[in-house]
Amino acid sequence: MTMTQDELKKAVAQAAIAHVPADCIVGVGTGSTANFFIDELGKIKHRIRGAVASSEASAKRLQGHGIEVVSLNDAGSLPVYVDGADEITRHMHMIKGGGGALTREKIVAAASRKFVCVCDASKLVDVLGKFPLPIEVIPMARSYVARQVVVLGGQPKLREGFTTDNGNIILDVHGLNILNPVELETTLNNIAGVVTNGLFARRPADVLLLGTPGGVQTLTA
Ligand code: A5P
Repeated sequence: MTMTQDELKKAVAQAAIAHVPADCIVGVGTGSTANFFIDELGKIKHRIRGAVASSEASAKRLQGHGIEVVSLNDAGSLPVYVDGADEITRHMHMIKGGGGALTREKIVAAASRKFVCVCDASKLVDVLGKFPLPIEVIPMARSYVARQVVVLGGQPKLREGFTTDNGNIILDVHGLNILNPVELETTLNNIAGVVTNGLFARRPADVLLLGTPGGVQTLTA
């Protein structure tokens, strides 16, 4: 029996619950896979104290399940962050931000001791970059940042009609073959006007729960 992509996402979301310690405040990502995780959290909400959300959309969904949403400043360090990815390698480096929530995702991930990435098997790649790399940019720097990205070999495209939760724009960068994600993450973040980029390499995932038709595989770096 073949499983749909949604069934694979649901399976990894269920598996991620085993990484949530009792009585904790859990970091929660954004996107369709994270949504399945939020729905699973709803079923065990009496076992957790609350959640820190990486987007307004996830905060809303958490609240819809009656889970208390806590600000990161009040929560302090978190034991675990659970989120999806647009691409991930076996080194646990990721491209994220397809949903535009990359900056808050990176902040919550940075403040968490363990990053559990939940993906269906289509997200596992050898080299990052087929998925356009999102960069969150302060609006007045749009054109300058785009020119700098061209110098680095990328083709930036403005995400039309989109504003991030932080009031900024997204440039999606096509045509990159990212052989050194740690270096590129730093280089892009050093361009004036860049808030952050969707490479999660300096702080990679610790555990990958990969949904395959044969079951959920657990990978670590
Ligand atoms: C949101 O900004 C992204 O980083 C998501 O985590 C990523 O796009 C994965 O989303 P899906 O689970 O919907 O594929």
